[in-house]
Amino acid sequence: MNGNEQKLMTRMAENAERTERALAEYFDEKDNDLQVILDAQTYSLMAGGKRIRPFLVNEICHVLGGAEESSMPFACAVEMIHTYSLIHDDLPCMDDDDLRRGKPTNHKVFGYANALLAGDALLTRAFGVAASAPCADPTCRAEAVRILSEKAGDHGMIGGQIIDLHGETEKLEFETLLRLHRLKTGALIECSALLGALAAGYLPDTKEAKAATAYASKIGLAFQVIDDILDAVGSEEELGKSVGSDASNHKTTFLSYFSLEDAKAYAKRLTEEAVAELSEFKNAEVLVALAYYLLNRTH
Ligand code: IPE
Ligand code: IPE
Ligand code: MG
Ligand code: MG
Ligand code: MG
Repeated sequence: MNGNEQKLMTRMAENAERTERALAEYFDEKDNDLQVILDAQTYSLMAGGKRIRPFLVNEICHVLGGAEESSMPFACAVEMIHTYSLIHDDLPCMDDDDLRRGKPTNHKVFGYANALLAGDALLTRAFGVAASAPCADPTCRAEAVRILSEKAGDHGMIGGQIIDLHGETEKLEFETLLRLHRLKTGALIECSALLGALAAGYLPDTKEAKAATAYASKIGLAFQVIDDILDAVGSEEELGKSVGSDASNHKTTFLSYFSLEDAKAYAKRLTEEAVAELSEFKNAEVLVALAYYLLNRTH
């Protein structure tokens, strides 16, 4: 491992710890009538996961000179939305999977209705968390809430999930598959970069925010290409989630168009392009290392 990879691993581990502490604080309550919905949310939210999105929010804010006090609520909001998307993605009416983050999926433990509501509650709470962020500039906070809505919604992650379902019953055109991947996974990763920039005071039309978004958009697409590969050849033990799910649901994935080697080469090209977007940034070595870490990951 070279110096920058080592630095990345340390910063990611420390960030995951701080993020998990911040997330836990939102659920520091006891209420008998509501206990099942609180437990169902924390079961999935606190089950680990790589915490890539909150890391991106906080790291981009840091690289652009912002304070973590401003970015952490955005980081938590994105992770809540991501976790809700996983709970719903695993439901019997979606991918129907049994294992997530190394544990039985939410609906296996809490039942279908509670899993549905736990996802709804995480999504809803995320907006309150983002709206309460202590940004120096209230315009940045309002913009962050708007972007969260856009990137999580039907023109973002949900749009991708819909096209993903179409891809179970028909083979999607390659351009449509690209759109699906950019939306279902890329959108929340782009959102993380934009929120990091906003926490540092950069609105989306600034050159800093645009470069951060271009980087995130490319690593986001590469992330889903690698996810498709790992679903086919990864190990359930290492991934902590069901494998072979795409094939059993007859989904159109990158492997419907490319061999494993060519799909990996495609992701590598995207990663190199992503890194090139950071050329104007000072202190971007950790973001560079992150792009390559995500390319070479096995979980
Ligand atoms: C899994 O995301 C779902 C996709 C968008 C591909 P991650 O691989 O980031 O899952 P966790 O957060 O580490 O569990
Ligand atoms: C899901 O994509 C992306 C989401 C919006 C949750 P996948 O269905 O490929 O994610 P995994 O493989 O189950 O984590
Ligand atoms: Mg899915
Ligand atoms: Mg799935
Ligand atoms: Mg997958």
